[in-house]
Amino acid sequence: MPHTLKDVLPATARMRDDGHLEVGGYDLVALAAEFGTPVYVFCEETFRGRCRLYKDAFPGPDRVYYAAKAFTSLASFRMAAEEGLGVDCASGGELHVALTAGVPVRDIIVHGNNKSDAELEMAVAAGVGRIAVDSLDELERLARIAASAGIRQTIVLRVTPGVEAHTHEYIQTGQEDTKFGMSISSGSALEAAKRAADLPSVELVGAHAHIGSQIFGPEAFGKLVEIMFEYMADVRAATGQTFGELNVGGGLGIAYTKEESPADVTAHSRFIRTAVADEAKRYGLPVPALSVEPGRSIVGNAMVTLYSVGVVKDIPGIRTYVSVDGGMSDNIRPMLYGARYSALLANRANEPSDKVVTIAGSHCESGDVLIKDVALPSSVGRGDLLAIPATGAYGYAMSSNYNKMRRPAVVSVRDGKARVVVRRETYDDLVRLDQV
Ligand SMILES: Cc1ncc(COP(=O)(O)O)c(C=O)c1O
Repeated sequence: MPHTLKDVLPATARMRDDGHLEVGGYDLVALAAEFGTPVYVFCEETFRGRCRLYKDAFPGPDRVYYAAKAFTSLASFRMAAEEGLGVDCASGGELHVALTAGVPVRDIIVHGNNKSDAELEMAVAAGVGRIAVDSLDELERLARIAASAGIRQTIVLRVTPGVEAHTHEYIQTGQEDTKFGMSISSGSALEAAKRAADLPSVELVGAHAHIGSQIFGPEAFGKLVEIMFEYMADVRAATGQTFGELNVGGGLGIAYTKEESPADVTAHSRFIRTAVADEAKRYGLPVPALSVEPGRSIVGNAMVTLYSVGVVKDIPGIRTYVSVDGGMSDNIRPMLYGARYSALLANRANEPSDKVVTIAGSHCESGDVLIKDVALPSSVGRGDLLAIPATGAYGYAMSSNYNKMRRPAVVSVRDGKARVVVRRETYDDLVRLDQV
């Protein structure tokens, strides 16, 4: 295993003497033989370690919510809760999984730009700790729903700060062209704070913003903190209220290829804390407790997808296609966003990667390409076991049954033991919803 992939693979990954890749003390060649392919290998130690890293960086009264959308499952929610994290749910479905997993309900925050009445009723009835109100329309509906349930619902306002972060830099958007949140510059975010003050069935405790995903530099967060404090000062001037919480969302980046290094969670926390202290002083506002909602940076590098290599098609002078037994149904990100991944042979991790090939899936789509141009041993062929690291975030969560492919299993490994945490779909699963 080239050590340069260290940041991309799970923390427990190592190359065995026989050249096999091992994760969580489990030989991945043995795992593939036992559980079949394609399969997502979930490294429990990496997942829990990342939860702990966040928890240490944002200790109480700060809050860390694991963003469910990155990988929603009973097992991941339970582990996050055991590590002291809450869960950020973006739909009734994610909330259902969180409640089923037994996540303490006060540690759940509910998001969504278009929450239905049914979803709001579900969240209020469950007693979730926070609802991030996304619009004035939602504020009015939630207030009615909470009043008829006889509950005073704690809320934060999701605002649009006009800062949009793109991987290494940020831009400030004049028009704030997004479906999420209430705009600060148009005044609707302030309007919502004033309105909330008049609604006895809601208790407004803070402001929330999420500025993007796969962010590496701290600059965009610094700008965000400045704008949020300007907003909080306006709220105090208009209503006399000071917020006790500032939720800066998720978005920290991870390494997908050996050319990238992950964003530093501890430095991120330090940077935000300093910016918050400076701004609080500037406006004479209290220092709020911070909340964060990391998804990708908790689970992204905790998983590796294993595929079996099938047909290898060499088009001389053009390209060599290495086809694997999964594809866009288990990882849509390359097709959706042009996301880049790395790869290695889990059964021959010790051999030099001396040939550039393209990894194709098995779907009936020319665009079903997982990695364009990646180096593998030139002898790659049928029966090899291909590992694609860093598939934990938005991999399984965005999977589909396109071409009636069965969703793979998710197998958790730890201390040399493996257990299925999401079982592989069967052919019968593929017709379970059909009615004739
Ligand atoms: C409100 C909110 N919080 C958190 C996240 C998680 O982001 P990430 O996985 O980049 O950390 C998202 C992602 O879209 C989001 O919309």
